[in-house]
Amino acid sequence: MILEPSIPAAKAVIDSWRGNRESIALVPTMGYFHDGHLALMRQARRAADRTVVSLFVNPTQFGPNEDLDVYPRDFDGDCKKAGDAGVDLIFCPEPVSMYQPGHLTTVSVSGLTEDLCGRDRPVHFSGVATIVAKLFNIIEPDMAFFGEKDFQQLIVIRRLVEDLNFNISITGVPTVREVDGLAMSSRNAYLDEFERGEAVVLYRALQTVREKVIGAENIVDCETLIKMGKAMIEESPVCAVEYFSIVDEQTLTPRRIVSGTCRAVGAINVNGRIRLIDNMALHG
Ligand code: PAJ
Repeated sequence: MILEPSIPAAKAVIDSWRGNRESIALVPTMGYFHDGHLALMRQARRAADRTVVSLFVNPTQFGPNEDLDVYPRDFDGDCKKAGDAGVDLIFCPEPVSMYQPGHLTTVSVSGLTEDLCGRDRPVHFSGVATIVAKLFNIIEPDMAFFGEKDFQQLIVIRRLVEDLNFNISITGVPTVREVDGLAMSSRNAYLDEFERGEAVVLYRALQTVREKVIGAENIVDCETLIKMGKAMIEESPVCAVEYFSIVDEQTLTPRRIVSGTCRAVGAINVNGRIRLIDNMALHG
């Protein structure tokens, strides 16, 4: 596996593969790999001749009071895991080469980014859209893989690709979970033992809502379902609801009645310190 921090050197390696008519998959990440990241890499590897992983903790998607400075990092561990997963190249640029002095351009996807995570994190999605557009231009992959765990991000990226005419196919990969159901996340590393036990309440609330919809009760009134989910979360002494909503999977607009392709989406704050998100389809 090649480790490459330089943009031109990474491009040269990838160009040589493309010259051999090899297909290229990209898995964008911020590192501290867990089985969710590895599932994306394995799926990429099965789909393309070459798999590129970008490892870059992107400063522009963190707000001023967020966790950029303490975001967990384990470069050596990540390289070992990616190598074992069959990745061909880790592109790991320095912040100064991605955002050179004088960088003034941002990509923003309006409409899909004002609500849900965007309400509490106003700069987040323009940071994500900008870095992903840059990575697409640098790597020029045929396909790219994103997790459903960050469902709003996945929908934003699909829109970006459509609107800016990127010739890249986007695959969403189902959420990988711990044994008790907690969605794997690099930020789970911030949880102490008690908080870790409590954090699963978001999964349980989503799962309960899903069962109420697809099970025998077939409750479809969103207000009732949302109330139920929020109440389950608020029972935890350390978890507060940031949002809990039922939205259309394509437009992310709130629904009043569950029908077609709807998704329950939620964010909690654990002890006012740790923000965790999860979501679940309410169909199929
Ligand atoms: P990061 O949080 O490192 O996640 C990288 C990719 O892994 C994203 O597509 C995310 O949705 C996926 N992922 C995370 N947890 C997952 C899980 N439990 N199951 C399946 N997939 C999971 O998301 C980002 O980085 C950044 O915003 C990025 C897209 C790299 C732009 O900076």
